[in-house]
Amino acid sequence: MDSQPFETFRSSVSGRSETCPELSTVVGLTVNGKEQTVTTEPQRPLLDVLREDLQLIGTKYGCGEGACGACSVLLDGEVVRSCITPASAAAGRSVTTIEGIADGDRLHPVQEAFAEHGVLQCGFCAPGMVVAAAALLRGTPRPTKAQIVEALNGNLCRCGTYPALVAAVQEAANDVGEANQR
Ligand code: FES
Ligand code: FES
Repeated sequence: MDSQPFETFRSSVSGRSETCPELSTVVGLTVNGKEQTVTTEPQRPLLDVLREDLQLIGTKYGCGEGACGACSVLLDGEVVRSCITPASAAAGRSVTTIEGIADGDRLHPVQEAFAEHGVLQCGFCAPGMVVAAAALLRGTPRPTKAQIVEALNGNLCRCGTYPALVAAVQEAANDVGEANQR
């Protein structure tokens, strides 16, 4: 007997997750400040709900097994890997994706610093990096280099932008610090 009756599987043709209507439930959650309701299998990855149901495609699918950080989002302010977070875990909670990091038209200091330091090469890792860095600065406004490295250590960049990445987060920290003193 199948030990994972709710298991979500991906179509080898489309790459989209498929859901079984009989096993679906209604999940209410807040995404980027907006209340949402989705009908989905409880164990379906939150990443698929965000990308496929809510069309928030800024969050990326990298490894699909929690190892690369490309799918990072905030769940009640904590960084989680949305590819291994079941949709049911987000019920009644607040999700922030890369689309919700900016303050309206004003980019987050991390986003501005990424652009200035040329962190964006192919850009695939950037949404997860930005989300993780923004979370770091909210909890630790003046991080040391070691703290930045530790916080972003699990976010992989195949383009090797790590030196620029660390410099960008350091600059963003300075900007956040100055803004807090005004
Ligand atoms: S896609 Fe989620 S950690 Fe790699
Ligand atoms: S910029 Fe290409 S993966 Fe990081």
